[in-house]
Amino acid sequence: MSHQPRADALVLFGATGDLAKRKLFPALYGLERSAMLTFPVIGVARSEWTDDDFRLHAEESIRAGGDRVDDRVVRSLQDRMDLVQGDYADPATWSSLCDALDRHESTTAVFYMAIPPSMFPTVVEALAAHGLNDRGRIVVEKPFGRDLASARELNATLHAAFPEERIFRIDHYLGKESVEDLLVFRFSNTLLEPIWNRRYVRSVQITMSESIGVEGRGSFYDGVGAIRDVFQNHLLQVVTLLAMEPPVGPDAHFLHDEQAKVLAATEPIDPGLLVRGQYVGYRDEPGVDPDSTVETFAAARLVIDSWRWAGVPWSCRVGKGLKQAATEAVVEFHSPPRLLFDEAGGAPPGRNQVRFRLGKRDGVTFSVQAKTPGPHLDSQAVDLSVDFAAALGARQEAYERLLGDAIAGSTRRFARQDVVELTWGIVQPALDHPGEIHPYFRGSWGPSEAERVLGNGDHWFEPSD
Ligand code: BG6
Repeated sequence: MSHQPRADALVLFGATGDLAKRKLFPALYGLERSAMLTFPVIGVARSEWTDDDFRLHAEESIRAGGDRVDDRVVRSLQDRMDLVQGDYADPATWSSLCDALDRHESTTAVFYMAIPPSMFPTVVEALAAHGLNDRGRIVVEKPFGRDLASARELNATLHAAFPEERIFRIDHYLGKESVEDLLVFRFSNTLLEPIWNRRYVRSVQITMSESIGVEGRGSFYDGVGAIRDVFQNHLLQVVTLLAMEPPVGPDAHFLHDEQAKVLAATEPIDPGLLVRGQYVGYRDEPGVDPDSTVETFAAARLVIDSWRWAGVPWSCRVGKGLKQAATEAVVEFHSPPRLLFDEAGGAPPGRNQVRFRLGKRDGVTFSVQAKTPGPHLDSQAVDLSVDFAAALGARQEAYERLLGDAIAGSTRRFARQDVVELTWGIVQPALDHPGEIHPYFRGSWGPSEAERVLGNGDHWFEPSD
């Protein structure tokens, strides 16, 4: 079942933390502005704050996140907010939370875990001990484990208290309009489907590059690295949407079934087709081990051994400190069987490409061949491009959409247990056999060794974002 009753309260564990500040309060503001919030927001935190401190903190975070803030909306959100202060291991904290939910006659709360994963077991057990697991659904942030074994353990912890349909695992890429468009673009048009397979597609490249470094998150990042931080989750979710068969219908389970099928057909990463890199200067970042071999860049070739994709290389790279921030997927098609139009004897025409731009300026670009002006029958590449924000208007922020879905009870944009475990299975050999780490300079495209992931003598395409 994908739709459940609408929530009547939001309980925010980790209410004074970083995630709440950066993402959740601005998202709550957006929901309040569009009249989607009709119920109390109860923060839970260990910090010794009062209700007023909590409300002020939320306001500051909202104002830091946007310039045209409506004071009336902020006030009506603040009026809904209360703080339950206390330690998660203290029964008194839980009695106060139960009292607060009773006072509001809540039967269907959203329990949002904006807390470190090490605290999940304590909080989930306490929710169950107080019968709160029967009074709501749980929203969990990544990381969902550190590897396949710990992901299974985490799922067991959650399942001891909540059934799968009431566990909402956030991968914020699934909340991005641009990423969801992959699904809509593919399956609302008939144009692409006939050629979206091994017969016509020569290769796929996905780049998820950030120009920033670890930006003060060194101590977290150094225990994680690029493969766990973004490859296992955001990148593989994008792969599923590009590679999947059409879902039977729009319901969550149909979509998740197709994602699971693609991942089941994807071979675990071959460590020989993995290249890890680390930007020069990373080891000097605060919180980073001076001898760290943790990767800030990873490139790997994925093999999807399905009828649709057998033999097509899916080359994927992620990294920080790179030349340009971009999230792009480029699908490249085979050359025409015979070149008719290269009379001038220059370089052979480039191959057709569909480039999905999934970053800030999202859109799609088709690169096709058109006649070069002049007397000869030659062709050259031209772009047919659309910028979605310009064509379609403003997009909603990922966290606002995801929080709205959790409140509405729709699991479609969340990650299902089997999908998460399959993604860990794919990256597990890369974690077990990471190989050497190649240095690269900030502002580059990562270590030159990453070229060997591609095969066919290919090169990485420069993102256009
Ligand atoms: C997060 C990672 O999940 O995604 C960060 O932990 C990364 O390291 C971020 O910077 C990228 O998200 P976005 O939306 O900026 O592409």
